[in-house]
Parts: sequence; structure tokens; C-alpha cells
Amino acid sequence: MSPDPTKERIIGTYAVTGSASGMGQQAARRLRDQGHTVIGVDLKDAEVIADLSTPAGRRGAADGVLSRCAGRLDGAVLAAGIGPGAGADRSRLIGQINFLGVTELLTAWRPALAATAHAKVVALGSNSTTTTPAVPRRTVRALLAGDVDKAAHSIRFFGAGASAIMYAASKIALSQWIRRHAVTPEWAGSGIRLNALAPGAILTPLLQAQLDSPREGKAVRSFPIPTGNFGDPGQLADWIVFMLSDAAEFLCGSIIFVDGGTDAYFRPEGWPRAVPVRGMPRYLWKFWRYSRSR
Ligand code: NAI
Repeated sequence: MSPDPTKERIIGTYAVTGSASGMGQQAARRLRDQGHTVIGVDLKDAEVIADLSTPAGRRGAADGVLSRCAGRLDGAVLAAGIGPGAGADRSRLIGQINFLGVTELLTAWRPALAATAHAKVVALGSNSTTTTPAVPRRTVRALLAGDVDKAAHSIRFFGAGASAIMYAASKIALSQWIRRHAVTPEWAGSGIRLNALAPGAILTPLLQAQLDSPREGKAVRSFPIPTGNFGDPGQLADWIVFMLSDAAEFLCGSIIFVDGGTDAYFRPEGWPRAVPVRGMPRYLWKFWRYSRSR
């Protein structure tokens, strides 16, 4: 019998954002139970207290972790995030926390992740990426360019639904950022495995707030989940820990959907999809460029 891949890891140091609640908290608990050192980042109840909605807060979070990890990180879990909700500033906050709160921290931590030569990173995406219709491309583009104000401005016509569109846009931009970076020499070539977990509706305080909202509660309850129930944060944390294990050595730039079947229900033919004929020039160019780089 082959050994349990999750038990093979050496004891290491992991940064976990959103460590005070929900999936981040459960992942941090499991890592600590395995004997690892966890440097939690959150608004409260964490080793590093930081507000990821501001540039200064993100810098403080990045530096706070680096000053505690002696220049070496075996992995990171990026779980801090907020969901759609009310408030004039909500869309901007979603962009700041859910997108920049991941990409700026990972950029700052990359050298420490590279220092261990086997680091694994799991960011929390979402199945809202493929199940929220009509997310404008320009919103995603603005986020990828780091311009949260422009992204928020671009969805002002969605009115009360704007924050749900921004939420999906933040996770689409994050997933694309991960796939772009994961395969580069700076990440894959430095031994770092960069991937995302895309959960469906998981019963955490984030989802509970939506269920309790008079405006969103009904829509969340009636959203199709073929398995028939909300997901359990502990089970999602098990996926996170598995994606941090040696079993993930060949996992690179993957967005793993664990969503009770919602994505498959809405878009059974959505993917995998063959490269269309019009995509051939770009495909061949990338093929050629890769072979030249080796
Ligand atoms: P949660 O609300 O239980 O935990 C999120 C944590 O992030 C909290 O501890 C909170 O304090 C922290 N956080 C929020 N804003 C912050 C800020 N400005 N600075 C620092 N920390 C901040 O949420 P949950 O459900 O565990 O979500 C974790 C991740 O999974 C999020 O990125 C969320 O978008 C994503 N997700 C959640 C789903 C769900 O149904 N619960 C579905 C798909 C994705």
C-alpha cells in the first residue's frame, strides 16, 4: 500500500489569511494539529492583525508574516475575503480584499516561498466565477491592472446587484492571476505550486450573513446545489490541506471546484473545451515559445 501522501510532509511554516473564521480557521487548525507553525493573518484573533482592505494593511500583513517566518514559507493559504452585501463601498472593499489582498501578499511572500523550493499555495476562489452571469470583462481587466476604483465604477449600472457582480469579478481576476503566474519560472520554476480551490456555497459566517440578508437570503437558498446541501467548511479545509501536501507536486495553476455540482449543473459543456480554430495562432506561438525557452 502506498503511504498516505498527507503524512509525508516535513514540519513547516504556513501563512494563513482569514485564519479567525470559516475555512481559513479550519485549515489553520488542521495544519497546527499536524505540528506545523501557522502565522495567521486577520482583523482579530491572529498572529498578524491587519486590515487587507487598505494598502497599508496589506503591507503590514506581508511584512508581519515575513518578520515571523525567518525568510522561509512552506506554504500559504489565502482565505480572507468578504461576500456580496449592502453598503455604498462594498464593491470597492471586495476588490481590495478578495483580489489585492491575495495578489499583493503573494507577490511579497514569493521569495520566502521560493526559499523552501517545495512550497504550496492555495488561494480561495469561488464557483461564482462560472455561475454568475454577465460579469463584464472590463471589470476583470481593471482588477488585473490593480485599478479597483475603475473596476467598481464599471459595474455601477448593476445597482443593488453590483456587489455580487464585483464578487464574481474579483474571483475571476484572482483565478486568472493564479493561472498566469503559476506556470512561470518565478513560480513553477522556483518550486512553488500555485493553485486555487473554488468552493460552492459553504456554511460559514460569510454565507450565513447572506442567508440572513432579506435581499440575498432567498436567492442563496434557491440556488441549485445538486448534492442537496450546503458544503461543510471542515471538508473544504481537508481539500486545502491536501492541496498543500506532497500529493500536489504536479498540481499547477489548477482551479479545483468543490461545489456540490452547481458548476456542472449550469455549464456541463462549459469546459474542458478544445482550443477553437481561431485560437490556433496563439496556441502555436506559445508552443514555439516554450520549446525555445528550454
Ligand atoms: P469567513 O467570513 O468565515 O472568513 C473570512 C475571514 O476573512 C474572516 O476571519 C474575516 O475576519 C477575514 N477578513 C475579512 N475581511 C478582512 C480584512 N479586511 N482584512 C483581514 N481579514 C479579513 O468566510 P469563509 O466562508 O470561510 O470564506 C473564506 C474564503 O472563501 C473567502 O475568500 C470567500 O470569498 C471564499 N468562498 C466562500 C464561500 C462560502 O460559501 N462560504 C464560497 C466560495 C468562496
